[in-house]
Amino acid sequence: MSFPHKDLLGINQLSKEDILTILDATESFRQISQRPIKKVPTLRGRTIINLFFEPSTRTRTSFEIAGKRLSADVINISGSTSSVTKGETILDTGYNLQAMNPDIIVVRHSTPGVPHILARNLECSIINAGDGAHEHPTQALLDMATIREHKKTLQGLKVAIVGDISHSRVARSNILAMNKLGMQVTVVGPPTLIPLEMESLGVEVSHDLVSAIRDVDVIMMLRIQAERHNQTSFPSLREYSNLFGLNAEKLKKAREDVIILHPGPVNRGVEISPDVIDGNHSLILNQVNNGVAIRMTLMYLLLGGSDENTD
Ligand code: CP
Repeated sequence: MSFPHKDLLGINQLSKEDILTILDATESFRQISQRPIKKVPTLRGRTIINLFFEPSTRTRTSFEIAGKRLSADVINISGSTSSVTKGETILDTGYNLQAMNPDIIVVRHSTPGVPHILARNLECSIINAGDGAHEHPTQALLDMATIREHKKTLQGLKVAIVGDISHSRVARSNILAMNKLGMQVTVVGPPTLIPLEMESLGVEVSHDLVSAIRDVDVIMMLRIQAERHNQTSFPSLREYSNLFGLNAEKLKKAREDVIILHPGPVNRGVEISPDVIDGNHSLILNQVNNGVAIRMTLMYLLLGGSDENTD
């Protein structure tokens, strides 16, 4: 199994073959979490540091669980309790953590490029767990794993990504992955939340939710990333929800076999209604489940994994 990368900074750096290698390996790692004893010795003696400068439920927990299921030692550091609050730079923080010889640092930061700065300067592997509105590569990979698990293929699938495209690192990483894998993407939302560069990325743009979802295999709903807005992009949440929120009534216009994804956290009743979140088309919790397997896979591949110790 060949994975010639020290770090995972973005989908941009991966080839189609890299992505397929990750997805194929994930099938085995998914099985480990189904067992009564959910632990293998693969990364025994290795150290993983989770360094999170932004809130997280799914990503941080799943990196911790992934590391522990592979028998690594996992240390969690929050930005708010780190010495960055006393004026230390992120790079000095990195040098000091490096001095303790970790094998992987997983980093989430509100500033795009922070994982790249650490990767250029530190010897250990860096995994980008989300950098501002730039990329969230492990989310896109777990989304690909979820779609492939349910649709059995990725090539040729049609996808609508709906919502706050401008501020979404999830949208960017998914578009990059879907383009590489031969999927057809339409982004849907108000003009104020869709950047002009979208068409140059080879995706279609729509401002009409119902017509955009009519013939797609996958609908991916996104939260309004209010923490990254510095001005109002629509008149009111109610109007946004009426035009771009997905509910059971609108979903009737989509295909019978459509699947619905959302990276979370969901804002129930804003971009997606409770009956759709909890309904038959929703794979939102399957995404979370695949998040553990994808992160186990990436730790394994980045540390030069062999088939030994994964059985
Ligand atoms: N999808 C995602 O990144 O969720 P968290 O912010 O909870 O990690």
